[in-house]
Amino acid sequence: EKGGFKHFMLKEIHEQPDVVKNTLMEFSEIEKVVGKFSKFKRICFVACGTSFHASLVGKYLFETLLGIPTDVLLSSEFLFSEGALDKDTLVILITQSGETADTLKALKIANKKSETLAIVNVLGSTATREADHVIYTRAGPEIGVAATKTYVCQLVSIYMLVSAMSGNDKLLAELQKVPDHMKQALENEDHIIEIAKKYKDANDFFFIGRGFSYPTALEGALKLKEITYIHGEGYAAGELKHGPLALIDDNVPVLAVVPPGESHDKTLSNIEEVKARGAKVIAVGSSKDEVLKSESHDIMGFDGDISEMLSPIPYVVPLQLLSYYISVERGIDPDKPKNLAKCVTVE
Ligand code: M6R
Repeated sequence: EKGGFKHFMLKEIHEQPDVVKNTLMEFSEIEKVVGKFSKFKRICFVACGTSFHASLVGKYLFETLLGIPTDVLLSSEFLFSEGALDKDTLVILITQSGETADTLKALKIANKKSETLAIVNVLGSTATREADHVIYTRAGPEIGVAATKTYVCQLVSIYMLVSAMSGNDKLLAELQKVPDHMKQALENEDHIIEIAKKYKDANDFFFIGRGFSYPTALEGALKLKEITYIHGEGYAAGELKHGPLALIDDNVPVLAVVPPGESHDKTLSNIEEVKARGAKVIAVGSSKDEVLKSESHDIMGFDGDISEMLSPIPYVVPLQLLSYYISVERGIDPDKPKNLAKCVTVE
């Protein structure tokens, strides 16, 4: 049932290029959903955990490509923002399981005042029955507690949604190349195993990124905490000097997400800052980026042109693999991390 892989998580990581392709086939269904939308002036994403990180990418996409003001709220905090809901707001709930208690509670509240759209992986789950509109991701069942393939499919669905709403065919065409970009990270597995062995005994890690790479940094840190029990802190690279820089020294590796593009040079200067405090830097970026290579101790690189805007989908793959292999090196079962359930059904 694990298809020859040691764990479900590893199998699910490897399934990603294929499930992304399956999810891409849903574009015409998404166009139908978009055709039914009323007019709205604001978007509010609501989600927990990994689905929250997918929502953060959604915010930058909606604001960059459609200019629609977009908020992202944690489901458990949504209650406190109810006052700002109205009929001009589209509330988008992202939930793999469709059964997360906090997200279902938020959906109930949102349904009273606003139009709701749920992006869900599990067919027929409660969220799909209660939302006004539904988009299905086609990740297939995810058994590992850590969300991997469902995250990348959520991202693909959001990119397609924005593409359908904006008529941006270029984005849609670029999305078709994402499965091949993801395969590159999977082909680099041996190199990632070496990096995992090198850093497996760290007690703390920082993950940094800007703009489209900030959610990737948060997601990398969440994976690390969840399945390796190492403290991983995801931070907007530009916020480092507003406090956490005080924690950086030669015992704290820093993983920097640095695709070529607008945010590149600024994140590079953050790399210099952490190196000046002794930190080892592991970078995710382009294999052609000679400056990044010379500035970092280890690099998990991608060939080919991946736009900054689309980088969140392939760039998360090496981070998933890194946490997976650190978990295995530390003798942990990544499929069943302690104290965690696949679906959180209590508020
Ligand atoms: O099923 P949901 O997408 O609503 O679940 C939300 C979170 O519980 C989930 O993403 C959790 O953070 C993952 N285990 C992280 O890997």
